[in-house]
Amino acid sequence: MSRKLGVLISGRGSNLKAIIDAIARGDLAASIAIVISNRADAPGLEHAAKAGIETLVLSHKNYRTREEYDHALVGELKQRGVELVCLAGFMRLLSPVFVDAFPNRILNIHPSLLPDYPGLHPQQQALDAGATVSGATVHIVNAELDAGPIVLQRQVPVMPGDTAGTLAARILEIEHQLYPEAITKLLTSA
Ligand code: GRF
Repeated sequence: MSRKLGVLISGRGSNLKAIIDAIARGDLAASIAIVISNRADAPGLEHAAKAGIETLVLSHKNYRTREEYDHALVGELKQRGVELVCLAGFMRLLSPVFVDAFPNRILNIHPSLLPDYPGLHPQQQALDAGATVSGATVHIVNAELDAGPIVLQRQVPVMPGDTAGTLAARILEIEHQLYPEAITKLLTSA
């Protein structure tokens, strides 16, 4: 039986696309049961629609508290039998309501070599620190921001003259390889 993923996005969705493509190529033995965005205008929703994957917009603005919103997200994911939740540019902090509903079964991708440069603008943080190497990390999500156990990490060089934009583009290429590999690693280790 195919392992069911739920992918959460807020924007562009290029990592979602990389996961869709890896499944289509046969490199990732899983299926995406649903893609949920907290924003109706997330361009990434198109990638899901084109691949015939169910999409759902669940706006956090319609909920009074973070916990109520997370409860609704969990309900939608569980209803579809989702086993592993993949955050792919989902710009929301998760409460314990969410984290405890999928223990060790939520992944996030972050464009730095964690624990370096957690939080916002990690590429700019790397440049500001004078780093010569940065990269991407896929980690398990726990209650602390960008701090859960690391599943996979890969490096890229920081080049002289890099801007946050050029570094982000170099890291993104690595992200697209790393995320499907990390999902496979987690699913096959269970
Ligand atoms: C990626 O850089 C990811 O590491 C970070 O947000 C960005 C999302 O990009 N968490 P995309 O929406 O997958 O294109």
